[in-house]
Amino acid sequence: MQIIHSDTYEQMSIQGCDLLLDTIQKKNDAVICLATGSTPKRMYELLVHKINEQRIDLTNVTFVKLDEWYGLEPDHPSTCHTFIKQHLLDKLYMKPKCLIEFTSNAVDVTQELIKVETYLKEHPIDVMILGLGMNAHLGLNEPSQQLTLGCHQVMLNSKTKTHDMIKGEHVESGMTIGMDGIFKSKQVLMLVSGSSKEDAYKDFMSGTITTQVPASMLWLHTNCVCLVDTSQFK
Ligand code: GLP
Repeated sequence: MQIIHSDTYEQMSIQGCDLLLDTIQKKNDAVICLATGSTPKRMYELLVHKINEQRIDLTNVTFVKLDEWYGLEPDHPSTCHTFIKQHLLDKLYMKPKCLIEFTSNAVDVTQELIKVETYLKEHPIDVMILGLGMNAHLGLNEPSQQLTLGCHQVMLNSKTKTHDMIKGEHVESGMTIGMDGIFKSKQVLMLVSGSSKEDAYKDFMSGTITTQVPASMLWLHTNCVCLVDTSQFK
């Protein structure tokens, strides 16, 4: 585990962007798994700018969406799909090869989970981008007595239901890539930012691992970089 503290959100975002650019430049068919939410926003903005400026070829690059709120129409402003469209796809000068994702309003959820799971079996992720959740969740792998290996549907924890993305919406569950997908990723990039993450970050740094702090499991990954913006920590 490599932990890098930054004094500002901007600095953390620049470091994350550099790591992603490096991956895409070294491996033009990279598979990149994308978290959504406030934490990676600026990193994506910087990444889009660099890709467009340097005309980096995305013809063979694949984006995989880490997770999705269940039950909303895909083009609803609160979905992870809309987030990725607005912050990446619509702003990039060229489209990547494809976007693999859980469809937010899928009728057959099992089929949806199998679709992403099957893709991951054949195409391991090169960089898995994660944002530490308020309750130390990873994607929507919520604190629990046990964590699930494969792609799965999950009931949202009460804290997760207060997430800014779904404010005012009635969302009870989500779909996410499980711990196996996270652990089979060649590299994990976890970003930590915001005052609401301080307790979760302390738990992550406590020197123990437990499924009640899903992020703590990352201590077992052999290639994990954790970028921390400490500007809002006491
Ligand atoms: C939700 C999102 C994730 C995100 C996490 C943290 O679970 N679906 O993709 O990584 O929350 O979000 P934020 O960075 O806004 O705190």
